[in-house]
Amino acid sequence: MGEIMDGMWRWVEGVPYAPCPPEEFCGRHEERERILALLNRAEKHGQAVMISGPPGIGKSSLLNWLKYDLQDRPGGPGSLVIRAEIFEPPRMIFSAFRKLLYDLQLHAASGWFQDLFVSEGMKEAVRYANDLLEKYAAPVEPVGLLPKTGEEIIGVFARSPEVEYDRVREAHLELLRELGWLMAGFGRIAAILLDDAHLASRPDRRLLLDIARDLPPGILLAFTCRDESGYEEIRDRGAPLVPLSGMRGHEIQEMGLKRFDLPLDEATAALLAEARGDPFSLVACFNTLRNRGLDPSPDNIRDLLAGGGDPAEMAFAAIPEFRRAWAEAFSVLIPPFPVPVMACIPGIQGLDEASVIEQMQGSTIFRRLPGGGYAFAHSLLQEHCRQKLSADEKVSLNARAAECFERLMHRLLIRPHALLSLVCHYFNAQDYARAADLSLELGIRYHHRGDYDAALMLTGQAITSAEHLGNGALLAAAVRERDLIRQEMADPDETAR
Ligand SMILES: Nc1ncnc2c1ncn2[C@@H]1O[C@H](COP(=O)(O)OP(=O)(O)OP(=O)(O)O)[C@@H](O)[C@H]1O
Ligand SMILES: [Mg+2]
Repeated sequence: MGEIMDGMWRWVEGVPYAPCPPEEFCGRHEERERILALLNRAEKHGQAVMISGPPGIGKSSLLNWLKYDLQDRPGGPGSLVIRAEIFEPPRMIFSAFRKLLYDLQLHAASGWFQDLFVSEGMKEAVRYANDLLEKYAAPVEPVGLLPKTGEEIIGVFARSPEVEYDRVREAHLELLRELGWLMAGFGRIAAILLDDAHLASRPDRRLLLDIARDLPPGILLAFTCRDESGYEEIRDRGAPLVPLSGMRGHEIQEMGLKRFDLPLDEATAALLAEARGDPFSLVACFNTLRNRGLDPSPDNIRDLLAGGGDPAEMAFAAIPEFRRAWAEAFSVLIPPFPVPVMACIPGIQGLDEASVIEQMQGSTIFRRLPGGGYAFAHSLLQEHCRQKLSADEKVSLNARAAECFERLMHRLLIRPHALLSLVCHYFNAQDYARAADLSLELGIRYHHRGDYDAALMLTGQAITSAEHLGNGALLAAAVRERDLIRQEMADPDETAR
């Protein structure tokens, strides 16, 4: 497919809201320099770096660029890069770390780096670390989902031998030592890129921070974090910080030209930098201008911005109606969205998975994930859709989602995600009878593995459900559990970890 094809269909709907592909990446020269200056240190000591900033400022895009520059750029350093992102809660324990190990296994099996992995030792270390992650998380993961009496679904949990956290940490540090050492033999480094560390659950955050503190030579760890409440804990661990702020006039000019074919004069760029410097808003503005066939003149831009408003609102106004309807329906899902569920939810006769995938390809508001599922191109879009749902819509869409998960359960590969989705959809559909027991059961298990946020959310669901059902015994059990979790969270020994 040539450029013309790209160009032609791009203007059907505009530039995608997903993180920017490296070949279209604009500006940020100082920030790039700062990160690259740390590479030398990574070779000698191991080095962490944290990229921070508000939503939509371009953190994930910078990570994309870094991956390209380190690994894929012709004439570049040819580093080995593995990348993962953390999704909104509730989610599986250590899911991002599993993705990182998966990437490492891919490198070991194909491409340039397979020569590097000839030693069985390295492959063995990856397998071992992965095995420990799986065992650690096993108590919250169903081994089978059986239809009980009627259509009720229960999770069946493994009684696996329990793995202590310390073993998980040691296995990862050992693996990284070996990897760094191997890479050094080739005069290269390995880079670990982790997106959205602010969403990490407690076990994930702990492992991230433990790794960051003890990075061996040859390893660069770059992670992003929204600078929202709670991020101080991560920031204060001493990794050098690369904060992102709004784009400057010349960066906005570059972006207009490179991504939208819109030439902007200095005054217009300055106006935009003043009003909306974050790239997410800029993409929404430029898409709207292109869509309405307007010149990027200061007057047109003033008119556009005078609408006030949320950039996500502007983004949705510029796409076709049927996409908005899908976006609404999918907004209740927890990412990653499985394709079979996406085909089921709109309730359109004959809508099959192939046509969902085809539709997604032309869409600016969804993106395909490495595992094959989908997510909103940007979380601001999903948040916006969710906020706009009325209470009734929320209930009926969640009921529909629960029905789809139930029906398709046997086909969904990521069981913990399916089970968590199901229990949250039951709850949000006000199907308290189905939500109650499963919420408590999962809450207890997440508590037990130290994921307090997920545990609190799930026990909260159990409490509300029990109240609605008038089930005193369940209510007492759920309240007891919630109080235990709160106590542990308040315990300074726990917090210090
Ligand atoms: N340097 C850049 N050049 C061109 N486009 C960019 C750049 N940075 C970001 N964008 C665009 O801006 C939008 C938001 O960027 P991105 O998703 O990277 O933000 P983010 O900081 O990761 O947001 P969040 O905190 O929600 O994860 C995307 O549509 C992306 O394509
Ligand atoms: Mg991001």
